[in-house]
Parts: sequence; structure tokens; C-alpha cells
Amino acid sequence: MDKKVFLRTLAGEATPRPPVWLMRQAGRYLPEYREVRAGAGGFLDLCYTPDLAVEVTLQPIRRFGFDAAILFSDILVVPDALGSEVGFVEGEGPRLIPLQGGADLARLSPARLHDHLAPVYETIRRLRRDLPPETALIGFAGAPWTLAAYMIEGGGSKDFLRARETARREPSMFGRLVDLLTEAVIAYLREQLRSGAEALQLFDSWAGVLPPDERARWSTAPLKRIVDALRGEAPVLCFPRGIGAAYAAFAAEVRPQGLSLDTTVDPAWAASAIPKGVCLQGNLDPALLVTGGEAMLEGANAIREALKGRPHVFNLGHGVLPHTPPEHVAALVRALKSA
Ligand code: CP3
Repeated sequence: MDKKVFLRTLAGEATPRPPVWLMRQAGRYLPEYREVRAGAGGFLDLCYTPDLAVEVTLQPIRRFGFDAAILFSDILVVPDALGSEVGFVEGEGPRLIPLQGGADLARLSPARLHDHLAPVYETIRRLRRDLPPETALIGFAGAPWTLAAYMIEGGGSKDFLRARETARREPSMFGRLVDLLTEAVIAYLREQLRSGAEALQLFDSWAGVLPPDERARWSTAPLKRIVDALRGEAPVLCFPRGIGAAYAAFAAEVRPQGLSLDTTVDPAWAASAIPKGVCLQGNLDPALLVTGGEAMLEGANAIREALKGRPHVFNLGHGVLPHTPPEHVAALVRALKSA
């Protein structure tokens, strides 16, 4: 029997307590991260330098003893590897060469994918060697829709209107982009598994901006292709953020081993609406982790109660916020591990 409580829970086993890890558990809220980051040059240099990426992945494990470590990288390394030339502007977030049509798409190529991402695979190999034996290692990738949306906008956006308009006006070009990304993500995740990742998470951060018919085509269908391609190789968690009641149909259709619930989902609803075979992950409000104290612990307990009786991985409903006091994270993990 695997002694990693995170993997046992994902496999559907009942465990004495839910395992815990947090999205963005490595990041700017930790002073030791800010120190490494300040010496790394650009953010992507941090992602592509195994010594540094290993160190920042391990920082929250040493400090808090999470049950899983997530590879330190970013979803945008895949567009970067395909040729979108990603950069991170201090205080502004990501910038990419905006993809404006078929000619730009034709310039993208998966030929250099594994060469470009070799430092990520090396980071994973070292992490598997350096992590405590009870800590699972999660690899990840962005979902095709979310990656395509950043590529077309050339950066972040609150509504990704340009990406949605492109999908409507040029569905065949957009479809080729999504297919290219789907194949690249499958190849990338397979290589992460070969390097030592033990579970995978797919981040579809912008699934929630699409209406149902377009979501089915551009978000759900590619995720299903990826999950089906990897079925039997490793457990996969999906995070289709912001899709509301459609989480239930998503789970039934895609059948991932795990489903990450965003902050807006009522866990009691999820417990009854989502097929029993799917492990639920989530979903404390990241803002409650900033608040801390009793409010945070009560919020965490309410989620545990609502999901009692089915496999549950404790997490947030989105990533740790940069102004989160690390002591609050310590208090949360202590409470979850002792209860
Ligand atoms: O600890 C972990 O969770 C692992 C590392 C990780 C990062 N990004 C590090 C990061 C993971 C899993 C991601 C995923 C990611 N990246 C997503 C999906 C999850 C989500 O948040 O919805 C998205 C949309 C991105 C793209 C991205 N990366 C944006 C929009 C930004 C800028 C916004 C911000 O928070 O600064 C990033 C930068 C980024 N990725 C940072 C970190 C720690 C901060 C960069 C810094 O140190 O300056």
C-alpha cells in the first residue's frame, strides 16, 4: 500500500484525514521565495533553472509539511516552448506575442517542445529524489482553452473577449490552435510522468468565461481528450474554474480521478451532485487564509464536514494570495493534520 496519503485519497481510499496542499503554495507570500526570486533574474529564469525551481518547490514543504508538492513552473511554459515568446513584466503579469491569425499559428511548432522543457523534466527528477518519502509530487499543465486565450490576447484579461471573438470568427484556425495545444499538453504531461511526477493537475482557469456550447467545444472536449489519453498512467485532477453547476456534467463526462472545486462551489452541493468515483479537491476561499484565526478554521471545518464520507483533498478554491501571512498557513495545516 502506498504510504502517500494524497495518492491513496485520489485512488478513492478512505483515509483518517484529508491530505492537504494549496494551489500557489510556493510564491510571493513566502519571504524565502522572494529572496530566491530576487536573485533569479526573470520569473521564467526561475522556472527554467532546476536548482532554483527545486528550491522554491521545497520551501513550503519544509515550512508546512504539505502532503503534496506541486512542481514549480508556470502554465505559460508550453506557449513559450511552441514559440509565443512569453515574458513576465514586473507588477503587470504575463506578456506573449499575440497570435493574430493563421500565419502566426503556422509559425508555432511543437518540434522544440521537449528540448525547451528539458529543465522542467530535470527539476522533476531532482524533486523525486529530494522530497520526503511521504510527500507526493504533482506535475501540471494549463488546459488548451486557457493557454489559447492567453496566446490570442497576448497576456491576461478579465474577460478574454478577443480570444472568444477569434474562436467565433475563425473557428477552424482556433480549432487547429486548440488541437496543437492538446497534443503538446499530452506529450508534456507524459514526459513529466516519465521524469517522476505521480499525479497531474490541469488548470482551466478561464473555463468560466465561455457560454455552454463553446465551453463544451473548446474547454471540456480537449480536457476529456487529455484525461482519456493519460487514463491508467496517473491520476489527473481537473480545475475548470468558474463553471458553476456545470461541474456536475463536467465530472460525469470527463471522469477525471480528481476535480478541484473553485471558491464559489457549495461543497455540500458538490458532494451530492458529483459522481462518487471522483475525488473532490478544495475549496477554502483564499481570502479566508488572509483573514486567519477562527473564521479560517471554521471555514475549513465546514468544508471537511460537507465532504465527509467521500475522498477529499483539502485545498483552496484558487491560489494563495501574495499578502497571505505564512503563520495563517501554518495554523491551517496544523489544524487539518491534528483533527
Ligand atoms: O505553487 C504552485 O502552485 C506552483 C507554481 C504555479 C505558478 N503558476 C507559479 C507562479 C502554478 C501551478 C501556476 C499556474 C498558473 N499560472 C495559472 C493557473 C492557476 C491560476 O492561478 O488560475 C495561471 C493562469 C498562470 C499564469 C500566470 N503566472 C499569471 C497570470 C501570473 C501573474 C499573476 C501573478 O500572480 O503574479 C503568473 C506568475 C506566477 N506564476 C507567479 C508564480 C509564483 C508570480 C510571479 C512572481 O514571482 O513574480
